[in-house]
Amino acid sequence: MKENYSLFHFHFFIPVAIRAYYFQTNFVSKLKTTYFCQSCGYQSPKWLGKCPSCSAWNTFVEEIIEKPNASIPNWKAPTTTTSTQRSQKPQEINSIAYNEQQRILTNDSELNRVLGGGIVPGSLVLIGGEPGIGKSTLMLQLALNLKGHRVLYVSGEESDQQIKMRAERIEENSSKGECFILTETSTQNIFKQIEELEPRIVIIDSIQTLYSAHIESTPGSVSQVRECTAELLRFAKETATPVFLIGHITKDGMIAGPKILEHMVDTVLQFEGDRHYSYRILRAVKNRFGSASELGIYEMQGSGLREVSNPSEILLSQRDEPLSGVTVSATVEGARTMLVETQALVSHSAYGTPQRSATGYDTRRMNMLLAVLEKRGGFKLGVKDVFVNITGGIRIEDPAIDLGLVAAIISSNEDIPVSYKTCFAAEVGLSGEIRAVNRIEQRIAEAEKLGFEQIFISKYNQKALDLKRFNIEIVSVGKIEEVFNYLFG
Ligand code: TYD
Ligand code: MG
Repeated sequence: MKENYSLFHFHFFIPVAIRAYYFQTNFVSKLKTTYFCQSCGYQSPKWLGKCPSCSAWNTFVEEIIEKPNASIPNWKAPTTTTSTQRSQKPQEINSIAYNEQQRILTNDSELNRVLGGGIVPGSLVLIGGEPGIGKSTLMLQLALNLKGHRVLYVSGEESDQQIKMRAERIEENSSKGECFILTETSTQNIFKQIEELEPRIVIIDSIQTLYSAHIESTPGSVSQVRECTAELLRFAKETATPVFLIGHITKDGMIAGPKILEHMVDTVLQFEGDRHYSYRILRAVKNRFGSASELGIYEMQGSGLREVSNPSEILLSQRDEPLSGVTVSATVEGARTMLVETQALVSHSAYGTPQRSATGYDTRRMNMLLAVLEKRGGFKLGVKDVFVNITGGIRIEDPAIDLGLVAAIISSNEDIPVSYKTCFAAEVGLSGEIRAVNRIEQRIAEAEKLGFEQIFISKYNQKALDLKRFNIEIVSVGKIEEVFNYLFG
């Protein structure tokens, strides 16, 4: 009798207790929220003024979160084994079978180059850039021109008619009915469509518009962006389908959302350019499958983006007579040499404080070069306005542009032009010494190819150089004074 009673107890009271608990958590307790740092994704149960992780101020925002609900379908592996059941054994590296990664080659050779030689199966690629720079155009062009592969373009930003309108503008629309458009923002619905369509490549425009039903907060919030990316990452890795994500950027040029987003993806590409120029640069910021210093150049035309395969020709302005303050430098970006034009304007300061401004070049580095000129060259630039510009609206980080820039500044200051057949490739050090730069032969060869007659390089570069190979006159210098004596002396 006693045993019966306790069994009754078990069968009756326990389910009631569970039900009461369930009721309470679902309907009585308030929604579960937590605070996220908008800059790095750090999570905190309460609001903080300063992020302990990235030290940013006032970045915490409250977001509603919810525990994953098993009834909502998610991207799952086709097999039933979970990662905890599958036991991985350490393998000797030589015994790992390496299947030659079958990269997908696109029609766009600039994109292939930036990706490190085509699209790697199962890779997650993030493309960031300012609004209106052409991210959607670039991706739609990729989708339309990828012959023999089914592409799914998921848009949360534009309607299908708008995308069709854009596709009409893109001239070389050679799609053979293999480009599919889906206007959807729920990841669960997207995965459902993907399972039916089985595309070879998936493009998401944009990650900030997606939402996952596992998380309560609004699309674009840190927790949503992170969850949606994590789901897409699992999908990409498990099915070996490459996924391109378009990402918005914040006003300081960072990709919006947590910094962890950039860690999760395999490749981060930055699409940039000056709005007032038609040239656009696609730069690899991070690439697990290739060089991160690679660069692709496009021109935005009325009919979409056109690849620019010979950048030097567009970056050099057509001129027949030498002008003061203009020089040409041989720079290397990634695997490619480009000749760029640097312009400087030095004039008497009309106001008390001289102005210094650099477009396409680091302002701090320009200030350093001006200090070197002041101290080592004896030029009185402290009372003058100095403006520096890299033409074509591109940004150069190669230090080999230093000497060309210094020559342009002095040319403008003295109002003596530098011959337009002269080119520069050397770094300038703090004591006014001319330093060697990498890939000097490649730079000299490019200058020669484009018809330059003279190139200034560092004497430290010249040592390891076979001068007889080149027809161009090579002037090797060790100090900036030598350059000035040669050019303006
Ligand atoms: P878009 O791809 O919408 O930019 P994003 O997705 O980065 O916001 O690019 C829009 C700009 O590109 C817009 O200003 C118009 C211009 N454009 C052209 O000049 N030619 C074209 O063929 C297309 C499609 C766009
Ligand atoms: Mg867009």
